[in-house]
Amino acid sequence: MKVLTVVGARPQFVKAAPVSQALEYGHEEVLVHTGQHYDERLSEVFFDELSVRRPDHDLDVGSGPHGEQIGRMTAGVGECVREEEPDVVLVYGDTNSTLAGAIAAAQSPAALAHVEAGLRSGDRGMPEEVNRVLTDHASDLLFAPTRPAVDNLAAEGLAERAHDVGDVMYDALLRARNRALDRSTVLEDFGVAPGEYVLATVHRAANTDDPGRLSNVLEGLSRSPRPVVLPIHPRTRGRIEEHGLEDAVGDAVRLVEPVGYLDFVRLVDGAERVATDSGGVQKEAFLLATPCVTFRDRTEWVNTVECGWNELTGADADAIAAALDGRTNRPDRPDLFGDGEAAPKVVEALAAAV
Ligand code: UD1
Ligand code: UDP
Repeated sequence: MKVLTVVGARPQFVKAAPVSQALEYGHEEVLVHTGQHYDERLSEVFFDELSVRRPDHDLDVGSGPHGEQIGRMTAGVGECVREEEPDVVLVYGDTNSTLAGAIAAAQSPAALAHVEAGLRSGDRGMPEEVNRVLTDHASDLLFAPTRPAVDNLAAEGLAERAHDVGDVMYDALLRARNRALDRSTVLEDFGVAPGEYVLATVHRAANTDDPGRLSNVLEGLSRSPRPVVLPIHPRTRGRIEEHGLEDAVGDAVRLVEPVGYLDFVRLVDGAERVATDSGGVQKEAFLLATPCVTFRDRTEWVNTVECGWNELTGADADAIAAALDGRTNRPDRPDLFGDGEAAPKVVEALAAAV
C-alpha cells in the first residue's frame, strides 16, 4: 500500500508520528508538508523530537487569508497526488491543511482517510468545525478517536465508513512521556516546581482576533494565585501587539516562546492545572491526569467535561480566575481515548480497504 500523508500544522506532526512508524512495516509512505506552520518552534522541532518522516514534498505555502491558503495548499497537494499516485491520502485533524488535503484527494482516484474524524463542537463559527465536517463527508475511511465521535458520524449517516480505533495522540503521548520525564529540564529552566504552576496556551482565532476575548483571557490568567507559564503561539503574540494588550499580561503570567513536544509534555504533567483553548492540549491534560480549564464556550472533547476533568469557562475573566483559584477536583478517569494502540489499527484498516 502506498500512503500519501498530508500535514502542515503543529498538532498534525504529533498525530502523524505514530502512524508513520506503523506504516514502516511493509508499506510505502510519502509525506507532504503544506508549510502552514513554518517557524522552527512550530514545525522543525517536532520532526527532530518525534522522528517524524522528513517531508518528501514541502509546499511552503505559509500564512494568508483562509481561502487563499486553502486554495494554494489544495493545488500543491493535488500535484503531489498526481505525481505519486498513492492508494490512500491520509489527513489529520481539523486545520486548513486537513481540508486542502481532503479536497485534493476527493478529486483524485486515491481513497481519502481522515484521522480524528467525527468530532463536533457544534460551533460552526470556528473554522476547525467547518473543516471537520467537510473533511468527514468527503472521506472514504473515518478514524474516530472517541465513542461520541463514532456516534456523531452515525448521526450524520456516515456509520459505514467509521472505524472506532482510539486516539493516535494517546499513542504519541505514551511513547514520549517517559522520555519527557527523564530528559526535559524545562521546569528548572522556567523556575517552576511540580504541582505549583499553571500551564496555559491560547491561540484559537475566536479568542485572539477579538480584543475583548483576548483581554479577558489574559486578565483571568493574570489573577491566578499560582505562576502561569504561557508558551505563546506567534498568532497570539502578534494579536497582543496589534490590539495593544501588553498591559493585560499581569505579573503572574510568564510569556515564553513555544516549546518542543517533550518539554510541553513535561509541563502538562507537572502542572497543577492546564488552562487552554487548544484541542490537543485538553486531551493531553486528561491523559496526564492534570485538571483542565478551557476558555471556550463549547468543546469537541465533550467527554473530558462530562467526567469532571475539564471545565469550560468561555472567555470570561471572572470564571477563569475562579476556576484557577478553586480546589482541584480529581475524580476517576475513564478510558476515553482507546488503548494507546490506535496507529496500528489505522494502518490495518487502511491495508484491508485498498
Ligand atoms: C492553525 C489551525 C488551528 C490549530 C493551530 C495549531 C486553521 C484554520 N487553524 O491555527 O486549528 O489549532 O494551527 O497550532 O487551520 N504564524 C507564524 N508562524 C508560523 C505559523 C503561523 O508566525 O509558523 C502566524 C502568522 O501570523 C499567521 C498566524 O500565525 O497569520 C495564524 O497562522 P494559521 O496557520 O493561519 O493559523 P493558526 O492560528 O496557527
Ligand atoms: N505543543 C507543543 N508546544 C507548545 C504548545 C503545544 O509541543 O508550546 C503541542 C501539544 O503537546 C499538542 C499540540 O502541540 O500535542 C497542540 O497543538 P495546538 O494547541 O497548537 O493545536 P490544536 O490542538 O488546538 O489544534
